[in-house]
Amino acid sequence: MIVLSQVSKVLSSGGQPLTVLHPLDLTIDRGQFVAVMGPSGSGKSTLLGLIAGLDDPSGGEIRVDGQTLTQLNEDQLARFRSQAIGFVFQSFQLISTLTGLENIVVPMEIRGLPTPRTRGLELLEMVGLEARGGHYPAQLSGGEQQRVAIARAFACNPSVLLADEPTGNLDSGTGGRIIELLKSLHREQQTTMMLVTHDPEIAGAAERIITLRDGRVVGDSTQAKPMGRQEARS
Ligand SMILES: Nc1ncnc2c1ncn2[C@@H]1O[C@H](COP(=O)(O)OP(=O)(O)OP(=O)(O)O)[C@@H](O)[C@H]1O
Ligand SMILES: [Mg+2]
Repeated sequence: MIVLSQVSKVLSSGGQPLTVLHPLDLTIDRGQFVAVMGPSGSGKSTLLGLIAGLDDPSGGEIRVDGQTLTQLNEDQLARFRSQAIGFVFQSFQLISTLTGLENIVVPMEIRGLPTPRTRGLELLEMVGLEARGGHYPAQLSGGEQQRVAIARAFACNPSVLLADEPTGNLDSGTGGRIIELLKSLHREQQTTMMLVTHDPEIAGAAERIITLRDGRVVGDSTQAKPMGRQEARS
């Protein structure tokens, strides 16, 4: 569960304070699939960065799975991030000197998880790239790189997945496949997901849509979820 209490962000812009997020309260249930929408500059990426613990709020408190982020020191925060949170950012951020498979396996090795290679191959299969694991990012298309980034984000079984416009650079066909992939991973692993998107069709796949404007929540709607197959693979 993610709980934000009176969380705000004020930056300084040319010596003047600029309120990027006005104090906001937000509760996201464990396992919920949330889309965050709103115009450019409304604070979506800022909100995700705060929940990820990549950025400090100017006020208020953020709790993720019972941990109060503002009470953790840098080391604790880094550990918490690597254990609990997966990221998918628009710019993929794959390591160019590692193959697709290695990009997925290395974070698991760093964390000392058992059988990283087997799990890496499993994840590659889930994203439909089992034949491309030996390729370097430069040898993969944008959509393929994005699928590697998603597999990597899921590799350490994060309880929270944060994705900032994961389909922003992709054509609609590839984007649609990425969304199907996120949905099926969400279904199979009950991950809490927050996805920033500009695409209303993609947001339609979410259970809840939070809309920001000028640093405020101006919309928060829960939509009936088309029930998919429930037999989760275990
Ligand atoms: N380091 C910074 N210094 C000053 N202003 C900033 C800084 N980072 C972000 N902002 C401002 O904060 C506001 C919110 O930015 P944010 O990146 O969260 O918007 P966004 O909703 O993600 O927009 P987009 O859809 O374009 O990605 C913007 O007005 C932006 O200019
Ligand atoms: Mg943004």
